[in-house]
Amino acid sequence: MVQAQVFLWAYVLLIFVPASIEAQELGVNWGVIASHPLDPKIVVQMIKDNGIKKVKIFHAEPQVLDALAGTGLEVMVGIPNESLKSLSQKYSVAQAWVKANITAYMGKKRVNFKYVAVGNEPFLTSYNGTFTNLTLPAMKNVLKALNEAGHGKDIKVSSPLNGDVYTTPTYKPSDGIFRPDIADTMGDICSFLDENGAAFIVNIYPFLNLYQNPGFPENYAFFGNDDSSSMDDHGVKYRSVLDANIDTLVAALKVAKFPDIPIIVGEVGWPTDGNLYATTKNAKRFYDGLLKKMAKNDGTPLRPKTYPDVYMFSLLDEDLKSVDPGMFERHWGIFSFDGQPKYPMDLSGKGQNKSLVGGKNVPYMEKQWCVYNEDASDQKDLNVKVAWACNNTDCTTLVAGASCSGMGIETNASVAFNMYYQMSNQSKAACDFQGLAKIVKRDPSNGTCKFPIMIKSFQPTSTSTSTSKRSPPSASSNSSSSPSDSPSTSPSPSPFPPLYHSPPLLFLFFVTIFAVCHYKYRDCDFLIAYAIVDISIVDIAVSDNIVVTA
Ligand SMILES: *[C@@H]1O[C@H](CO)[C@@H](O)[C@H](O)[C@H]1NC(C)=O
Ligand SMILES: *[C@@H]1O[C@H](CO)[C@@H](O)[C@H](O)[C@H]1NC(C)=O
Ligand SMILES: *[C@@H]1O[C@H](CO)[C@@H](O)[C@H](O)[C@H]1NC(C)=O
Ligand SMILES: *[C@@H]1O[C@H](CO)[C@@H](O)[C@H](O)[C@H]1NC(C)=O
Ligand SMILES: *[C@@H]1O[C@H](CO)[C@@H](O)[C@H](O)[C@H]1NC(C)=O
Ligand SMILES: *[C@@H]1O[C@H](CO)[C@@H](O)[C@H](O)[C@H]1NC(C)=O
Ligand SMILES: *[C@@H]1O[C@H](CO)[C@@H](O)[C@H](O)[C@H]1NC(C)=O
Ligand SMILES: *[C@@H]1O[C@H](CO)[C@@H](O)[C@H](O)[C@H]1NC(C)=O
Ligand SMILES: *[C@@H]1O[C@H](CO)[C@@H](O)[C@H](O)[C@H]1NC(C)=O
Ligand SMILES: *[C@@H]1O[C@H](CO)[C@@H](O)[C@H](O)[C@H]1NC(C)=O
Repeated sequence: MVQAQVFLWAYVLLIFVPASIEAQELGVNWGVIASHPLDPKIVVQMIKDNGIKKVKIFHAEPQVLDALAGTGLEVMVGIPNESLKSLSQKYSVAQAWVKANITAYMGKKRVNFKYVAVGNEPFLTSYNGTFTNLTLPAMKNVLKALNEAGHGKDIKVSSPLNGDVYTTPTYKPSDGIFRPDIADTMGDICSFLDENGAAFIVNIYPFLNLYQNPGFPENYAFFGNDDSSSMDDHGVKYRSVLDANIDTLVAALKVAKFPDIPIIVGEVGWPTDGNLYATTKNAKRFYDGLLKKMAKNDGTPLRPKTYPDVYMFSLLDEDLKSVDPGMFERHWGIFSFDGQPKYPMDLSGKGQNKSLVGGKNVPYMEKQWCVYNEDASDQKDLNVKVAWACNNTDCTTLVAGASCSGMGIETNASVAFNMYYQMSNQSKAACDFQGLAKIVKRDPSNGTCKFPIMIKSFQPTSTSTSTSKRSPPSASSNSSSSPSDSPSTSPSPSPFPPLYHSPPLLFLFFVTIFAVCHYKYRDCDFLIAYAIVDISIVDIAVSDNIVVTA
């Protein structure tokens, strides 16, 4: 009897142990809006070490493409929205783009391009229709240029769209339709995708459902099995908003008369900081559910048998992303900014307690931190200085519910000063705040509140440094816009004089910066003007160059 039971168990296990995820189904988004991006070669090694076979990038960055060359990793390369206009108007722009960003990497370099993603969520309602009439013509021109260059067989053209391009008037997935204001355009786009065998790419964020709607049933954002937070659709029960969302698209495609277009989830994930719901615990819960679901591959009720391919969002944290969507925006990585895993994750979907493989040979700066100095004789204006530091660095771990929240003004000060110091390459001058800050050699991390050490900046060898300034964030942007790739402003100089520099130190520091700049860029006269105003601006002017290559 006992033996029989054991046998039965073994048998059951044999049948029901989920197959691991076909590696080719799981991809990852790799964005580089960071003050100190990791060396792309380290990143590519991480991707390979974890068995991920597909990568989605937002721009054709030469260093990134070079690192992907010859690896066999499948690449989806994006074209930013800003290019849609020129691409739609001039075929020659598409030709030039393909030549510079595809053909140049196809021959000897062997980058394994599979998709060009034209625009990124161009039909977001918050863009007021700016790209409605530009996207399809741009896609057509890019495809034509790819065909002409002989890449049409290998590379498909699509455009990642936000889940807000479809809707369901009854909340039931089976009643899904495309958003009425763009229904015609969506029909044309589906026709284009269908003709060319390309997938419909959609970005879906269950986290934002929870973030935006306080009453949202929490379990429904994950993959629970509790019926109290499920959606009943004519007898079909949805226990995960992601599946309901996918099926709303399936229904909309059917209404548009293109029921068979494959679907790729271009972005999905869960952030780990900057909000009450953005925790490693929740992120782990979300990915555990998603990866198990993918491994089972039993699809969704309206598309049984196969689950869409999925690109996780995102690989790494990015400390210069705009926080317009929310303070969690810089914390979408399954790895921290320095390529270290944040929580256990089993990409095979077998639910084992495994750790991802982190970045190897990451070049850290020295083990030192900048913290609040309680011994400073003049404690005046601590609040103002903290606010200034936060204005010029990343303080997203301080907001309510985040990893360093609720610990008091002294922790606030230490976190802000340290982030400013680390982002300034541990420059001694950046840890002063008129005596209120000091450098320490012992890790001040406490519980959930971690004090990072910056990594050494990756120095691109290419000459493609653009120096354009970022535009300021617009207050109007809707938080339903998904994370993707919108950059934040670079740190900006403040009227508040942040640091005291004795003139000789200032002079020495400036001379060094100038020498480095001159060596790298030749024309550095602009620095002189800045230096006279304030040394902190020099910091910023220099850091801008890095930011922009990212
Ligand atoms: C898409 O376009 C909007 C509006 O121009 C812009 O704010 C956003 O950064 C763009 N995103 C990408 C990835 O190009
Ligand atoms: C290639 O892509 C990069 C990154 O998006 C862009 O800056 C550049 O203008 C593109 N080249 C051409 C010739 O379009
Ligand atoms: C912005 O998002 C909110 C919440 O999802 C929604 O109610 C509102 O209609 C959106 N506004 C625009 C302009 O998209
Ligand atoms: C869209 O329209 C709103 C309201 O008219 C405006 O505030 C916003 O700046 C517009 N956004 C874009 C990207 O044009
Ligand atoms: C797009 O084109 C259609 C038809 O030509 C026009 O009616 C519509 O106003 C245009 N939409 C935008 C946002 O320009
Ligand atoms: C998972 O593994 C880590 C380290 O290997 C261990 O600390 C942790 O307790 C394990 N968790 C569970 C639930 O077994
Ligand atoms: C922070 O920056 C904003 C916008 O640039 C500015 O209005 C504000 O005064 C700054 N606050 C501090 C404390 O520097
Ligand atoms: C710490 O910073 C956060 C975020 O700016 C703020 O909400 C909080 O009130 C600050 N705490 C103190 C004690 O100043
Ligand atoms: C940090 O160091 C890098 C590499 O040396 C340099 O290019 C960058 O400008 C520095 N950033 C700041 C804010 O000093
Ligand atoms: C860590 O944080 C706790 C609670 O905020 C505090 O009581 C404790 O003193 C802190 N420890 C250190 C070493 O800062």
